[in-house]
Amino acid sequence: MNPANLTNSSVAPGARTQGQPDPAASPQTADQITVRPARPADVRSIAALVEPLAVRGILLAKDPVGYYEAVQEFLVAEDAAGEIVGCGALHVMWEDLAEVRTLAASDAWRGRGVGHRIVSGLIERAKVLGLRRVFCLTFEVDFFTRHGFEEIDSTPVDPDVYVELLRSADVGVAEFLDLARVKPNTLGNTRMLLTIEA
Ligand SMILES: CC(C)(COP(=O)(O)OP(=O)(O)OC[C@H]1O[C@@H](n2cnc3c(N)ncnc32)[C@H](O)[C@@H]1OP(=O)(O)O)[C@@H](O)C(=O)NCCC(=O)NCCS
Repeated sequence: MNPANLTNSSVAPGARTQGQPDPAASPQTADQITVRPARPADVRSIAALVEPLAVRGILLAKDPVGYYEAVQEFLVAEDAAGEIVGCGALHVMWEDLAEVRTLAASDAWRGRGVGHRIVSGLIERAKVLGLRRVFCLTFEVDFFTRHGFEEIDSTPVDPDVYVELLRSADVGVAEFLDLARVKPNTLGNTRMLLTIEA
């Protein structure tokens, strides 16, 4: 299915988890969702979306200060009631390279195009920033493949850039570099790269 056509769905919502909006009280289609830059006031909602996925080893959680520091990297999806039902971030790593990270849709909204809307917005941001490559580390291979990402084996930077990136204190960058100390985080994940045409 072409993700561009995924905004008008009658797909039933997924199982609800604690802290998630009640789908019965929410609009039922992703065209009623607003995707917008995150604000500091969204941080608690973003953290609540990420937490259960971090517990399962699917996403990396941050301390609260980490979310506030990174809030300008995030897009959020907001339903008509003002509930945050999805989030995702674009983290710039180098002159031509960024990572899509912390992409999540609430259980109640899975499979109805929220993830597509957010990742499309993040790719658009990458284009505006003049980036040529977007990395992601994920279990959601089919989802990212539908958005133009391809599986890769290696770390797609030159040795001199690799050495510079080693100076980063960011755990996500360490995962990108495939460092031994973060291997437990990345087990079973697939490394994927989107190349943006000039
Ligand atoms: C990855 C993730 C954000 C996708 O969110 P989502 O809102 O379910 O994504 P979408 O609804 O846009 O697409 C999911 C699937 O639903 C299908 N779909 C989307 N809208 C649809 C619609 N209206 N009708 C029918 N099917 C639809 C899509 O075909 C897609 O299939 P695919 O995964 O094979 O590509 C979500 O699964 C998630 O939170 N995963 C856990 C965190 C994670 O792994 N993040 C990625 C690493 S950063």
